[in-house]
Amino acid sequence: MEVIIYPDKESANRAAADFVANALRRNPHMVLGLATGETPLGLYSNLIKMNACGQISFAGVTSFNLDEYVGIDKNDENSYARYMRDNFFDKIDIDISNTHIPDGMAEDIRQSCRAYEKSIRDAGGIDLQILGIGSDGHIGFNEPTSSLASRTRMKTLTSETIQDNARFFGGDPDAVPRHVLTMGIGTILEADTVILLAYGVSKAAAVAAMAEGPITSMIPASALQMHPSVKIFLDEPAASKLKLADYYKWVYSRKPSIDAKH
Ligand code: GLP
Repeated sequence: MEVIIYPDKESANRAAADFVANALRRNPHMVLGLATGETPLGLYSNLIKMNACGQISFAGVTSFNLDEYVGIDKNDENSYARYMRDNFFDKIDIDISNTHIPDGMAEDIRQSCRAYEKSIRDAGGIDLQILGIGSDGHIGFNEPTSSLASRTRMKTLTSETIQDNARFFGGDPDAVPRHVLTMGIGTILEADTVILLAYGVSKAAAVAAMAEGPITSMIPASALQMHPSVKIFLDEPAASKLKLADYYKWVYSRKPSIDAKH
């Protein structure tokens, strides 16, 4: 796990966008795993700008989103499907038919989760997975005690996540769905490369537990310690509880070249 600490989230977002852009230039037909929430918005807006001025193209990209609320229609303003169109897909040159999001309105949820896993396999697997992290250490919607070998399935949100996400539902926790569909931790760990972004002091405890604590289903993101290619992009507040913060900065500042940093 490579932990990279930036002075602020704007510089972290630029670096993460450069990382994604370089991967895309190397493989224009890459399979991208995408996240929602507040955290990736800055990364997406940087990628949208690069796409608009012709530096990168998503025309050959296939994407799979991590998760979706159960019982919310894809056109509902709170669905992750709508979030993706509003904040990314409608602003880049991706072919919308190559984008995939779990179907929160599926009649047969188990079957639709199995089909989602099959579509990922049929696409050749995820080349680059983008992640945020919940304040309780979740990735996707894999809440604490999720199996570290889990696959795409339905989960029930914790009260902490319901409170955290109420801001997207007019501040009303009762409006937040209790059930969600999410790629499993086993699904996420199969991506070739993972980048995780975390900003703000509210993520500091989860980030420290993920990177420096034991691997435990109580902190689902700690499973990333078992993945051979993970980069963590942090701002200073999100890094504020890391014991080895000075070491991570020292290591990064001595990387041999800018190229090697990507
Ligand atoms: C949400 C999403 C996650 C996201 C996390 C953090 O509930 N399911 O994919 O990474 O929680 O969200 P935010 O970036 O808004 O803090």
